[in-house]
Amino acid sequence: MTGSIEVKVTCKTEEATDIASFELARLDGAPLPRFSAGSHIDVHIPGGLTRQYSLCNDSTEQHRYRIAVLRDPASRGGSTAMHDTVKEGDVIRISTPRNHFPLQHAKRSLLFAGGIGVTPLLCMAQRLAAIDADFTLHYCTRSEDRTAFIKEIEASDFSKRVKLHFDAGPPINRLDIVETLAEPAADKHLYVCGPGGFIDFVINSAKNNGWGHEQIHLEYFANTPQDTSGNGKFEVRIASTGKTYSVEAGQSITRVLQDNGIDVLTSCEQGVCGTCITRVLEGEPDHRDLYFTDEEKAKNDQFTPCCSRSKSKLLVLDL
Ligand code: FES
Repeated sequence: MTGSIEVKVTCKTEEATDIASFELARLDGAPLPRFSAGSHIDVHIPGGLTRQYSLCNDSTEQHRYRIAVLRDPASRGGSTAMHDTVKEGDVIRISTPRNHFPLQHAKRSLLFAGGIGVTPLLCMAQRLAAIDADFTLHYCTRSEDRTAFIKEIEASDFSKRVKLHFDAGPPINRLDIVETLAEPAADKHLYVCGPGGFIDFVINSAKNNGWGHEQIHLEYFANTPQDTSGNGKFEVRIASTGKTYSVEAGQSITRVLQDNGIDVLTSCEQGVCGTCITRVLEGEPDHRDLYFTDEEKAKNDQFTPCCSRSKSKLLVLDL
């Protein structure tokens, strides 16, 4: 169970065009809970929104957490509120850190960051450098002015392990994904975070080059809006009570359950964080999340009711 903490915004910094970082510390200055590279926190944003942000400071630090937020006009309001409303000195509530994107033991690690997806990977790079591990961080952005933490990276003791790739830069500087992923090996692992298209590009290239599923690790930071025009009506049954509820085309399962007094813990409400995972006892879920692997989805024994639906007329849930 994740706890929650009240923290103060001790520093807000413009890191690049449309990207601001926020440093968070306990009100009494006491140490924050430890975290590992790849962890994220839920941030309860003024206005009632909750969003997940990766921690992008050194994972040995306990005096602060640092997150970075891209102003995204296509978002559902969280990033705008962080940029326009939250300021230094504000007190906000966050969850304790969770890690769905941990580093594995590997002889060599390849990190691929697309834009703001650099946040968990920067933390990983710091950790890998600290333990003197072999790694390269490929950091892809549109242009230098949109590259958060570039000065910090250039000044770091792992700067030689970072390759910057700007879309607007000379072609020679672009990421040559085929060459970079040319030699898969059991003791190499790759990590990718960024927009969906970037992640798909890296993963498909890795698979085409013979990388195994267990060597590929990814974290989406938002689900893409889904086409809901084909959504149909179905029913969910609560195994413990036997009660059945109808889910209309325009409703989510969690909303229907909440309206009937059944609380399923949610956070991102878009299939990214895994908070709402629920076991399925009967029926076939229509998985709409980015959390489970294809193999996990194929088992159909659990799903994310915040965004997923049903292919069968009835789903029986272990609630
Ligand atoms: S609430 Fe995040 S996956 Fe459902």
